[in-house]
Amino acid sequence: MLGIEKIDVFIGEHHILRSVSLELTGGEKVAVLGANGAGKTTLIRTVVGLEKPRSGRIAFDGRDIGGLPPYEISRLGIACVPEGRRPFGDMAVMDNLRMGAYNPAARKSLKESLAEVTALFPALHERLHQPAETLSGGEQQMLAIGRALMSRPQLLLVDELSLGLAPLVVKEIYRALRLVGETRTLLIVEQNVNQVLRHTDRAYLMQTGTIIRSGPCVELMADEDIVKAYLAH
Ligand SMILES: Nc1ncnc2c1ncn2[C@@H]1O[C@H](COP(=O)(O)OP(=O)(O)OP(=O)(O)O)[C@@H](O)[C@H]1O
Ligand SMILES: [Mg+2]
Repeated sequence: MLGIEKIDVFIGEHHILRSVSLELTGGEKVAVLGANGAGKTTLIRTVVGLEKPRSGRIAFDGRDIGGLPPYEISRLGIACVPEGRRPFGDMAVMDNLRMGAYNPAARKSLKESLAEVTALFPALHERLHQPAETLSGGEQQMLAIGRALMSRPQLLLVDELSLGLAPLVVKEIYRALRLVGETRTLLIVEQNVNQVLRHTDRAYLMQTGTIIRSGPCVELMADEDIVKAYLAH
């Protein structure tokens, strides 16, 4: 459903992604791992159209989307939960969610989507009329995921799923994502490697703008070098 073929991305003069390739099949849950500055956020920003690849190809359901503007990519069924998950603080939770449904198609299903998101995250249901800035960090992440889901994406990209969140909240969010993953394809960028490998099928390891390893999570978790570099604490 998503095929990234040897993309190179520059920010200004800086060569950030170098010949990055990645393949997602419909319904898969895939993790992207890597140290600070590896290029994970840049990869996500490129898929959603916020950065343009200078070379290579990004295909979504067979269609070339590399270089399309973000609103068109969103309309085709890709949504992302950005790093830092900033809601519009003075707006109610409900209005933040509504803003996720800006595509004409998503707007038509607004009620249905709202029901799905609030069923997924009961904490949001109880706080629909509160300003978003009154939410805890975990609830803000739920809101960010909920807002992305309001556009009814086939592919959901999550940047830094658990950063700064308490373990119990992270568990709750993974539980919700398991349900989301029953009908959607997921790409999750995560610092907590142990955790994400238990919740995804495959993973890619990034280092300084390139993919250095990829494979099924069970295989990576059984690899001594990977365990030493990423999993041993
Ligand atoms: N606007 C920018 N201008 C110049 N360099 C940038 C810009 N944004 C990112 N970079 C550089 O691109 C590289 C990759 O950054 P990116 O944010 O994609 O990494 P990351 O893997 O998401 O890191 P983190 O784990 O810290 O979120 C880094 O070296 C970073 O300094
Ligand atoms: Mg990042």
